[in-house]
Amino acid sequence: MLMPNAPLIEARGVTKIYQTKDGPVESLRSLDFSIRDGEFVSVVGPSGCGKSTLLKMVAGLLGVTAGSLTLAGQPIEGPQKDVGIVFQSAVLLAWRTVLDNILLQAEIRRMPKAEALAKAQKLIAMAGLEGFEGKYPWQLSGGMQQRASICRALLHDPSVLLMDEPFGALDALTREKMNLELQRIWLESKKTVLLITHSIPEAVFLSDRVIVMSERPSSIAAIYDIDLPRSRTLDMMGTPEFSVYAKKVRSHFYAQGSLDH
Ligand SMILES: Nc1ncnc2c1ncn2[C@@H]1O[C@H](COP(=O)(O)OP(=O)(O)O)[C@@H](O)[C@H]1O
Ligand SMILES: [Mg+2]
Repeated sequence: MLMPNAPLIEARGVTKIYQTKDGPVESLRSLDFSIRDGEFVSVVGPSGCGKSTLLKMVAGLLGVTAGSLTLAGQPIEGPQKDVGIVFQSAVLLAWRTVLDNILLQAEIRRMPKAEALAKAQKLIAMAGLEGFEGKYPWQLSGGMQQRASICRALLHDPSVLLMDEPFGALDALTREKMNLELQRIWLESKKTVLLITHSIPEAVFLSDRVIVMSERPSSIAAIYDIDLPRSRTLDMMGTPEFSVYAKKVRSHFYAQGSLDH
């Protein structure tokens, strides 16, 4: 049983060393952080600093080399039932309709059919995909494909939604629209979200807290609370308050070079 106010995800001294044929590669060095239930947390950091590694460890797809990583007080060992994952490309199956792509999650998890269908229909409505259930992925825009993959990740009602640069392949305007959509979905679904992104404005816009990673071997350079009111509007990106947060995050990367590209 999780104590009230206990962290949902907790990392203590989390270290990851990959064993490669050229010797060990230290990816993450002694990370400490905790994420509360219902919180929206982003991770930003230079390419190759271990962001995807961290996300895979939280999902239980990769083990930690040292330290402890827990979900709801339990050590994360093996793939976790209580998480949903969204990757950079929507990874939808081309030969399945939107609805059947979403229901894939139910098949993998052996959920009862009627329950899964009802849940899928609710999520489709929440994601604004009504009328597109019978379309194939190639008949949808990139933004709609990502919305479908968010539905799929939420079908089994996990407490945690993990997102690895989910909007990286979208154009700037679609991306902003998806930021609004994601905020709305998060406010409605009350999930705990861990989002990896290269976009500082996206991280500030969406998050309660932003974790900034340093170059490899990476550790946490800073964690910022983003005290902007909800629900946030795109106009807020132009305010001095928003700029102060974005500047703080960006300052870490001026010192080290660039964030990416
Ligand atoms: N399976 C692996 N074997 C060896 N090294 C890996 C493996 N996966 C990732 N790495 C290394 O770990 C570091 C972090 O990778 P990754 O987590 O993908 O970074 P990011 O998502 O921040 O770009 C990189 O230097 C990468 O080369
Ligand atoms: Mg990555």
